[in-house]
Amino acid sequence: MKDRFYVTTPIYYVNDVPHIGHAYTTVAADILARRNRLLGRKVFFLTGTDEHGQKVEKAASEKGRSPQEQADIMVGNFKELWKRLNIAYDAFIRTTDGPHKEVVRELLRRLYDKGEIVKKAYSGWYCTPDERFWTEKDLIDGNCPDCGRPVEEIHEENYFFLMSKYQERLVSSIESNPSYILPETRRNEVLGFLRNNTLGDLCISRPRQRLTWGIPLPFDPDFVTYVWFDALVNYYSATRYLAPGGAEPWWPPDHHLVGKDILTTHAVYWSTMLMALEMPLPENIFAHGWWTVEGRKMSKSLGNVVDPNAMVDKYGVDAFRYFLFREVSFGLDGDFSEEALIRRINTDLANDLGNLLSRFLTMAEKYFGGKINVPTGDSKGSNPFAAECDDVLAPVTYQDDIWENYRHWSNLKFTTILERTWKAISAANNHVAQKEPWKLAENNNKQELERVLFNLWNALRLVAVCLFPFMPTTAEKIWTQLGLKSLVDEVRQSISEVDQYPQVFYWEWRPTYEIKVSKGGHLFPRIEDAVKAVESVKVETGKKEKPKMTEQAEKELLSIADFAKVELKIGRVLSAERVERSDKLIKLRVDIGEERQVVAGIGKVYDPEDLVGKEIVVVANLKPAKLMGVESQGMLLAATDEDGRPSFLTLDREVKPGSKVK
Ligand code: ME8
Repeated sequence: MKDRFYVTTPIYYVNDVPHIGHAYTTVAADILARRNRLLGRKVFFLTGTDEHGQKVEKAASEKGRSPQEQADIMVGNFKELWKRLNIAYDAFIRTTDGPHKEVVRELLRRLYDKGEIVKKAYSGWYCTPDERFWTEKDLIDGNCPDCGRPVEEIHEENYFFLMSKYQERLVSSIESNPSYILPETRRNEVLGFLRNNTLGDLCISRPRQRLTWGIPLPFDPDFVTYVWFDALVNYYSATRYLAPGGAEPWWPPDHHLVGKDILTTHAVYWSTMLMALEMPLPENIFAHGWWTVEGRKMSKSLGNVVDPNAMVDKYGVDAFRYFLFREVSFGLDGDFSEEALIRRINTDLANDLGNLLSRFLTMAEKYFGGKINVPTGDSKGSNPFAAECDDVLAPVTYQDDIWENYRHWSNLKFTTILERTWKAISAANNHVAQKEPWKLAENNNKQELERVLFNLWNALRLVAVCLFPFMPTTAEKIWTQLGLKSLVDEVRQSISEVDQYPQVFYWEWRPTYEIKVSKGGHLFPRIEDAVKAVESVKVETGKKEKPKMTEQAEKELLSIADFAKVELKIGRVLSAERVERSDKLIKLRVDIGEERQVVAGIGKVYDPEDLVGKEIVVVANLKPAKLMGVESQGMLLAATDEDGRPSFLTLDREVKPGSKVK
């Protein structure tokens, strides 16, 4: 196993205060950093701020500040937010740091001396807010194709990085490395763009008379460095002066996390810059999706910008962190609403997880004064519940790097990891329902009662391990209520020399001391008021709209015999791929007792790889139909919410494919 891990976030502009989008990428990086630290790796987690350029200069002058004052004030906001979101970064880089500026100048000089940067006359269309040049044909209705704002025509001499000559090398490098750009849909977009367009050279300077707030070029003091060239270099410069041991042990990074808005600058500008510098490329650039708010783009003018500070105040940091990564598959776009956040808190956190812990602790205290006895000879072979937990959790704990199909962590499948964790929570809740410990107590079946409580204790322990990267405080709380010492210490101390994984990740791990649980406060109290408010609105409208059943409507009711004609079956997805030229349709091979091909319109919300192995409900006796020329021999059942986002039906425990749904 690699013993080091380097992850970055974008460095954020200091023209404005941070919002949910900035929080999203930074929490994602924190999750990866925490997981890797747990595994005993040395981690370098870098975040920071992008402080030069026109955008910041303009924001500063509007507020009557110098750009440096503007940056100093805004950095405080970012750092404060990272503290509140429990972000354990290792370094915070600012592009106005002296050593960063020196590294930028050094790299510029290296490229200039190699003939990779040349001076050329140039004319183009410039978008000031985006700080980007466009060609005439890029413009849409004469405006910036990115933000839609007006552009200015500019003629000037500038310095250019000869990016165009790296086009072919870049294409073959992306082609030969499937995980260089993730998710796959974004990789295909970049490849499509590079195959169908000719790359130009990259203007990397701005004349001083137009912009002074930047790093002067080392070979021409009349120009400052283009803000993107300066900013991208941060990933390397930080290793030189902020990473322990310098650049050598850390380069290249494992993941650059970025939003989809800045994928091109990373996948194209940064990759070719590194090629010209003869430096290794990062292992992976991951472009996540975009948050909208109640269906609309976030903007100051709409007044719908979500302030993460307010969310933390209202709902707590762990609930907010959990929501961001459970609600939407990392990589896809998502829509934020407080209603959805409250739903997640009440259902997943208060109900499924919080109640499980609290019921378990109550029983452990009532029946055994809090003491947990480890049954002798307990193993996954002899304990079906242990086997069930191991089945769902092993792939996201200790099998992650070993099995190709289980690369949930390396492919940043955060949602899948949480879904698997919740499968273990459901299994534990079912275990309580099936074993009815109160009856075992009534019947004095002490041995079985001890076994059940141990099972629950151990399942909750493994759940806490899985939750730690996402909800560190909650995980530690569960851990201590289970009568254990610090989770982080215990995990790290248990790393085995044989398989390199912490033994705490396994069902068989036992502490060396006596286990006595102790009940603490409720992890996540239900949010009753908000639910009442939401529900009362629904009841109101329900009352108003309740129609009297007409004769016609009665005729349209199905008899049980009619319903019985519909053959619903459980299917297991064997493989899934997108239908060509469609962003909505996914072609599935499904085992429903026999193999079927089913085409489903769920591609805007799910990635094909999210579906493989899932159990779904299929209408098995539909006439085959063709969708975009591809035959579908059945239909997958899915619910659609008000936003038109489908969510497919699945089961709370595994059932044999082909089983009937009645
Ligand atoms: O682009 N949804 O900085 P920036 C999801 N300085 N993520 C969002 C988001 C949203 N609605 N809005 C912002 C810059 N983000 C440059 C980067 S890196 C060398 C230089 C997140 O302050 C997302 O990560 O505009 C996006 O890429 C980043 O904030 C842009 O931050």
